[in-house]
Amino acid sequence: MSAPPTGALWLIRGDARRLDAVPDSSVQLVVTSPPYPMIPQWDRLFRALDAAEYPAMLEVLAGAWRECFRVLSPGGILAVNIGDALRTGDDGFRLWPNHAETLLAATQIGFTPLPYLLWKKPTNRPNAFLGSGFLPPNAYVTLDCEYILLFRKGPLRRFAPHDPARLASRFGRAERDRWFSQVWSDVRGARQGSEGRRTGAFPDAVAERLVRMFSVVGDTVLDPFAGTGTTLWAAVRWGRNAVGVEWDPVTYRALRSQARGRGLRPAARPPARSGAVATGARSPPRRRRAGSGAPSR
Ligand SMILES: C[S@@+](CC[C@H](N)C(=O)[O-])C[C@H]1O[C@@H](n2cnc3c(N)ncnc32)[C@H](O)[C@@H]1O
Repeated sequence: MSAPPTGALWLIRGDARRLDAVPDSSVQLVVTSPPYPMIPQWDRLFRALDAAEYPAMLEVLAGAWRECFRVLSPGGILAVNIGDALRTGDDGFRLWPNHAETLLAATQIGFTPLPYLLWKKPTNRPNAFLGSGFLPPNAYVTLDCEYILLFRKGPLRRFAPHDPARLASRFGRAERDRWFSQVWSDVRGARQGSEGRRTGAFPDAVAERLVRMFSVVGDTVLDPFAGTGTTLWAAVRWGRNAVGVEWDPVTYRALRSQARGRGLRPAARPPARSGAVATGARSPPRRRRAGSGAPSR
């Protein structure tokens, strides 16, 4: 079988809550990490989106999940990397349960919640605890896991027997065993932006695993909170088409120049469903020889 072409890339400067340019049911996978409500890094951005309080911040995210539901095709998967926040509110220091709110919001929109992943980041500060030190009961558990919540739109996606794109997307037994275990503790956090600019980027390995776990070659992968484009580069590298949406103009410009630096020319319209014209055509990385971890459905 000849290697499929790498995918097309489409970049949109816009708002994840209004993906008007993206047609209904045109995307097979969303991999994203939104700004986390109640994390100070994102306060200014939420204020600019008219969301100064926690419920309004959650509503920004819910608006994006509604659009993801619309643009995903039946059987498509939404993967959301999100962390909870710790912060002092009117009632004192407390947890802001972003993952639980996201699970509920996406389920209310109509997504089917699936078993999720816990990404336990190896830490350089294993002894950094908050609270009353060695005296009970007012010490706090360290938040060292983020969540990768998984949802499906509608029924299972079906393929014809021996579908070539699906077979070309197969992963091996070792990958299956590692990737589909609930706790990922082997992935370090990404380096944050240069010049002290925090980007909230997740590492390549997170994007790459999710793209390979939940899409096949020729699919279209959307990141409505594209940031530095980690999802997009992983999607294109693995022969998928990619659609990135970014609201912040500076980040969007950086994204475009990153694309050019990678030899990609962002398209002016949505990628075609499959066999899209390669922009800076390269073949996706060769798969390691597949083990017997074949999907059962
Ligand atoms: C946590 S970062 C995403 C990081 C990304 N996964 C990466 O690896 O670089 C969230 C991004 O969403 C963008 N953003 C925030 N609100 C948005 C909105 N309403 N629509 C589109 N993008 C938005 C922010 O500017 C930021 O770049």
